[in-house]
Amino acid sequence: MAPPFGVYIHVPFCAARCGYCDFNTYVPEGRGQQHEFVQAALLELRQAYAEVGDRPATTVFIGGGTPTLLGAGGLLRLLDTVSDTFGLAAGAEITTEANPESVDAGTFKALRRGGFTRVSLGMQSAAPHVLRTLDRVHTPGRAVSAALEAREAGFEHVSLDLIYGTPGESDGDWERSLAAALSAEPDHISAYALTVEQGTGLAAAIRRKELPAPDDGEQARRYIRADEHLHAAGLDWYELSSWARDDEARCHHNIGYWRSYEWWGIGPGAHSHVGGVRWWNLRRPADYAARLRERRLPIAGREVLTPEQLALEAVMLGLRLREGLKLSSLSEAGIRAAEDEATRGRVVICDGRVQLTLRGRLFADAVARELSA
Ligand SMILES: C[S@@+](CC[C@H](N)C(=O)[O-])C[C@H]1O[C@@H](n2cnc3c(N)ncnc32)[C@H](O)[C@@H]1O
Ligand code: SF4
Repeated sequence: MAPPFGVYIHVPFCAARCGYCDFNTYVPEGRGQQHEFVQAALLELRQAYAEVGDRPATTVFIGGGTPTLLGAGGLLRLLDTVSDTFGLAAGAEITTEANPESVDAGTFKALRRGGFTRVSLGMQSAAPHVLRTLDRVHTPGRAVSAALEAREAGFEHVSLDLIYGTPGESDGDWERSLAAALSAEPDHISAYALTVEQGTGLAAAIRRKELPAPDDGEQARRYIRADEHLHAAGLDWYELSSWARDDEARCHHNIGYWRSYEWWGIGPGAHSHVGGVRWWNLRRPADYAARLRERRLPIAGREVLTPEQLALEAVMLGLRLREGLKLSSLSEAGIRAAEDEATRGRVVICDGRVQLTLRGRLFADAVARELSA
């Protein structure tokens, strides 16, 4: 087995901006920008390879933005270049994110034939009024039909993203969204509490009192309902926001982030972690491409974490996983905090590991802060 190494490629374009999203993504002004991006990303891949050499990728994840705006042709050029540079480990997991409205059966067939093994579709909700509040342009049924098309094209690994707690969403809307997502028989579901990101249209609408802010209690109720419903359908949680049918169906690329493995992030604003160094790229696609045309890496900043920062990060990230943390990885104060949290019912300590309970999952960040004392 090759040592884990992830390649992430960030595609910074969307057909339209969703009012809640603050990802580094732009509405392209023409096909020229997308072409410029692909050329630049290919240059970054080659430069990255010159730095790290043969290091077969165990996972590749093309995310965004909306990678499928590049079409199957663009995505396959990126993947082929990963394969020609770093190389792909045997059995590598190769995912692309996809927006339901920018894919069709032909796209999935081409991607599957070209080596992609997994697709992750942004569904968000099955309730038309919730999709409208989120500014989503697809109809409720399109995400489910896209997931079915992906399966028919031979994708065994299909994931759907859902968002809960959108203003105006009822308990019934959430139940129906879960049921609709499950009707497509995905082997993975990610469910995220709607987060109000500063600077987004959603934050402005809440400030102007056009929409109520999401309610913490309601979001906690929806999370518990999701966990029950997904578990009953055979999908079990393995990370706070992620449920999968079995180990193979998990997103191993994301697991690499939670376990602080190494990865190279290609694309505007992408972050990387290699050789104990973390760095992040220039965010604007034009600046990113210009730097690469000069044959320089498009790095905006870098940092080397202190041992204390690394320990804090290992607790914050590792606790998100169902397997939890080794008790022995905590400081003495951290072990005492874990014992306190166990008496409060927010963690269990079992076989030398600290693991979140369902109640603890609702307060994961607070528990992690206690344990990293
Ligand atoms: C980068 S998007 C990729 C998928 C694709 N662009 C789409 O939206 O269909 C990844 C996921 O992040 C989630 N997301 C983005 N912004 C969020 C927010 N403010 N609160 C909760 N989830 C969010 C959505 O579920 C989205 O599908
Ligand atoms: S949620 Fe997805 S489609 Fe919407 S703006 Fe963000 S990245 Fe683009």
